[in-house]
Amino acid sequence: MKNLIINTFLIITLLSCNSQKENEIKVENKPKYVVTKEEGRLWIKSNQLFKPVFMLKIDSSTQNLAKFQLGKMLYYEKGLSKNSNISCNSCHNLEKFGVDNEPTSPGTDGVRGGRNSPTSLNAHLHFAQFWDGRAKTVELQAQRPILNPIEMGCPSQSFVIEKVQSNPKYAGLFLKAFPNQLMDYEKLTSTIGYFERFLNTPSRFDKFLANDFEALNEKEKLGLKIYIETGCQSCHNGIALGGSMYETFGKYDNYQKHTTSKKIDNGMFDLTKNENDRFKFKVPSLRNITETYPYFHDGSVTNINEAVKIMAKIQLNKELSESQIEAIVAFLGTLKGEIPEYAKLKNKNS
Ligand code: HEC
Ligand code: HEC
Repeated sequence: MKNLIINTFLIITLLSCNSQKENEIKVENKPKYVVTKEEGRLWIKSNQLFKPVFMLKIDSSTQNLAKFQLGKMLYYEKGLSKNSNISCNSCHNLEKFGVDNEPTSPGTDGVRGGRNSPTSLNAHLHFAQFWDGRAKTVELQAQRPILNPIEMGCPSQSFVIEKVQSNPKYAGLFLKAFPNQLMDYEKLTSTIGYFERFLNTPSRFDKFLANDFEALNEKEKLGLKIYIETGCQSCHNGIALGGSMYETFGKYDNYQKHTTSKKIDNGMFDLTKNENDRFKFKVPSLRNITETYPYFHDGSVTNINEAVKIMAKIQLNKELSESQIEAIVAFLGTLKGEIPEYAKLKNKNS
């Protein structure tokens, strides 16, 4: 924080003086690195538009630790599916940036749904869950896939409770997490949400936001600049670079023409029946985006360069050159973060 203040002060001085000798101004804590005016501006603008994420510490109070442990075990528990063959982790694999890299994912009976599995990493930072935002929080979201017939397919809440109760380890952790309380579906699934609230993935971009100007190379900084100037930030902004609003997919042209989607998905219209909501989707987060292919709500586009090109065209009515696209993609690569060790199955310490 102290460094941040020093640098902010320096950059403000740097921007306010009209000196041609900007290259002589040095950042105190990094004596060798010289911040140019343009970099200073990019940094200030970035801090206005985005916010860094940090690696979180698990709360070690008995109750919260038990919640975390129970939530983590349930996240990996195949027993929560009708045929005991899939878990949350099958579609949101925490070794694979919270996705399965499939256009759409097979459920407990092998049947695929119509939408692409978004990553569970950083999802708790979104203002709503699902492509159409139909669940408000990760806790409420976690209630759904277990009972969804084409996902985990459990027949009822009581079926799930009985399964969990019959495992002494789970029953014991539940009592630690919720002393003297009866197990119910809402409390049980809320622990999965609790676990997901620790799935932050800090990246090189967060270091840059903090004040490490060397965390990004020249091409990546150029990409960030183009990303902002092109207008991507008007939708993909905030702490998750997305997840803060709904927007029409295809503001300037039908998305299907560009994605070659086989099925037409009406997005939020199917929920609200409001004509303004046709093709409206939650703006997805771009954290870890280079790893979470294929892209869009139906996984119809595999290549990230192609996805960026389509975005510019149909969301902003702009044609980007190949080199501009490459620079943006280089910047997007800096959003690839670190998956917390404590979230991984093999990590037995938590
Ligand atoms: C069969 C694959 C599958 C399984 C199993 C599954 N999910 Fe999902 N998940 C999806 C799909 C597909 C979506 C998007 C559906 C939509 O938006 O209509 C989704 C959406 C989500 C989201 C919203 C993310 C966002 O950016 O909006 C979260 C969080 C999530 N799932 C967590 C879980 C948890 C926790 C479990 C286990 C209880 C689970 N999922 C089980 C496929 C799966
Ligand atoms: C007007 C709002 C808006 C603007 C501007 C915008 N996007 Fe998007 N973006 C969206 C929406 C909405 C989606 C989800 C579309 C879908 O799949 O239904 C999306 C999806 C994406 C995806 C795929 C995400 C995933 O998880 O599959 C990428 C990558 C992306 N945008 C990058 C960009 C880039 C780069 C720019 C600038 C060139 C940009 N976007 C401009 C609204 C916008």
